[in-house]
Amino acid sequence: MSYIIMEIKKISSVETYPVRHEVLRKGKPIETCIFKGDDDEQTIHLGLFLDDQLVGIISVFKEQNNLFSETNQFQIRGMAVLEEFQGKGLGTKLVKEAEKHCINLNANVIWFNARENAVPFYEKLDYKIIGDSFLIPEVGIHFVMYKKIH
Ligand SMILES: CC(C)(COP(=O)(O)OP(=O)(O)OC[C@H]1O[C@@H](n2cnc3c(N)ncnc32)[C@H](O)[C@@H]1OP(=O)(O)O)[C@@H](O)C(=O)NCCC(=O)NCCS
Repeated sequence: MSYIIMEIKKISSVETYPVRHEVLRKGKPIETCIFKGDDDEQTIHLGLFLDDQLVGIISVFKEQNNLFSETNQFQIRGMAVLEEFQGKGLGTKLVKEAEKHCINLNANVIWFNARENAVPFYEKLDYKIIGDSFLIPEVGIHFVMYKKIH
């Protein structure tokens, strides 16, 4: 009988690029996988490994959004699971781990720009839409989604 070992751990920004590229920036230059603030001291990147293969990623940035008045806000970015591993609960595990990190830092709000197609995924995790949809050029229609932490 064989077991698959699942592990979520901190990774570097550079380690996220192959998954960002494959899932979020397919066919675009690799430079499009570099996000502003990736290497800021307060930014973290988490990787989900199955038997040492990186299959999912999420990043958390210390970023304020004027839509919210709370002082301690965190932004989730670069949420991606390799296509063949989607729909198995791995994205949920990554979001929950990112939430733990934010809660440990006394977050008041977690927010992000959600791709239209991912809205139902985040709604299942109790995130809500605020405002109207908007277009991020070359990526698509997005909504700001958030969760307040008390
Ligand atoms: C969106 C994404 C991160 C979700 O990760 P995942 O591992 O596939 O999600 P999970 O398996 O944890 O799904 C949890 C629930 O959300 C649902 N769900 C996930 N993606 C969905 C989608 N696009 N539309 C509708 N429901 C979705 C699942 O069916 C599941 O529902 P269930 O609990 O009733 O079974 C992943 O599919 C992905 O990388 N997609 C492409 C990139 C992307 O859109 N990233 C988000 C950018 S904002």
